[in-house]
Amino acid sequence: MLLDFIGLSLALAHFTVPLAYYAYIVKYYRRPWDIGLEPGYKPRVTVIVPTYNEARLIERRLDNIYSQDYPRDLLEVIVVDSASTDGTVEKVAEWCRRHPDIAVRIVREGERRGKGFALNNALKYCSGEIIVVTDADSEWVGRDCLSKAVSWFSNPTVGAVSCVKTPASSGLAGVEEGYRGFYNIMRVGESKAWSTPVFHGELAAYRRSLLEEIGGFPTDIGADDSYTATRIALMGYRAIIPGDIACLELVPSRGYHKWRIRRAQHLVQHFWKILRARHKAPKRFKTVLYAETYLHLFNPWILLAAAILLAASAATGSLLAILLLTLGLALLLFKPYRTWIATQLYLIAAAVRNLWTRELAWEKTLK
Ligand code: GDD
Ligand code: MN
Repeated sequence: MLLDFIGLSLALAHFTVPLAYYAYIVKYYRRPWDIGLEPGYKPRVTVIVPTYNEARLIERRLDNIYSQDYPRDLLEVIVVDSASTDGTVEKVAEWCRRHPDIAVRIVREGERRGKGFALNNALKYCSGEIIVVTDADSEWVGRDCLSKAVSWFSNPTVGAVSCVKTPASSGLAGVEEGYRGFYNIMRVGESKAWSTPVFHGELAAYRRSLLEEIGGFPTDIGADDSYTATRIALMGYRAIIPGDIACLELVPSRGYHKWRIRRAQHLVQHFWKILRARHKAPKRFKTVLYAETYLHLFNPWILLAAAILLAASAATGSLLAILLLTLGLALLLFKPYRTWIATQLYLIAAAVRNLWTRELAWEKTLK
């Protein structure tokens, strides 16, 4: 009976905290932005594309950047490649010959030391006031995507801008979609409250002066985008995801679970690292930062504890525990619940896996 009671309480706590937080964020999501923009703001922009074996996708990525309506004389692209072995650099060089009207620089690293390391290398060559990082396997939706992202920097309180995500292709896109709708609302709502601690590599833009102030991108953890954005938010600037900047992301056709675990590993690393600086958070950022830290680092374990206690109790014949476990399993028929549970499992697996590998130079997944 005691086991049932504790198990049930933990399960309730596991679901109540995120629901309460969701309700809190949705209030902000519905509010208008409190960030005013200056029309006509057109700073110099550097787009950085980090690549490791992206020969299949890099031309498509460059085409998409090329198609943007941002003034080309204010735009510079840097492809920073970490010793790809599939001809990525040759593909870029060839693409450049066909597009002489856009400034593209190739920075080649002799060895692969991870994305964060490569980005710091690229920073040395940037001339832009705004730095935009974008993954090779992504696509900006609409020709005005970059312009829209840059326009937010016309407000001096904005330090970083990212996008919402829509998954593209592949069989598992359904799961991805289920979880994207909810998370996109969270990211935009958090941004309106103050800032979001979760950014996306498909489009992550930063004010260069702030990047320099924090010493560039982290090289000891994986989530360079989320961590950098959060550092900027901790400095008192806004790190935001406006709802109308959308990016497509390719979802791997194989190795989906591994991919999700690795990304969860990086997020877990980010939230652990940021824990040390949490007291610096501006008042308006505290609730968001604390809630997201709790949801990523601790809440999944509460679910696991609840399941273990109830299973133990069910094994001793407790009818209530059997009923609760059956209910928990039956609810898996509902997609939002199923997606939620899957995310908790990925976070638990990630935390465990972090004990022996940080996955800073990860295996390529086929997309
Ligand atoms: N230069 C360089 N060096 N680029 C790299 C390296 C490296 O060692 N490793 C990966 N990249 C590049 C890839 O070529 C791609 O353009 C981008 O970094 C993201 O890598 P993906 O392989 O597409 O990883 P992902 O989509 O699963 O990663 C997502 O999560 C990461 C954190 O877990 C993205 O949002 C990343 O931006 C994010 O860092
Ligand atoms: Mn990717």
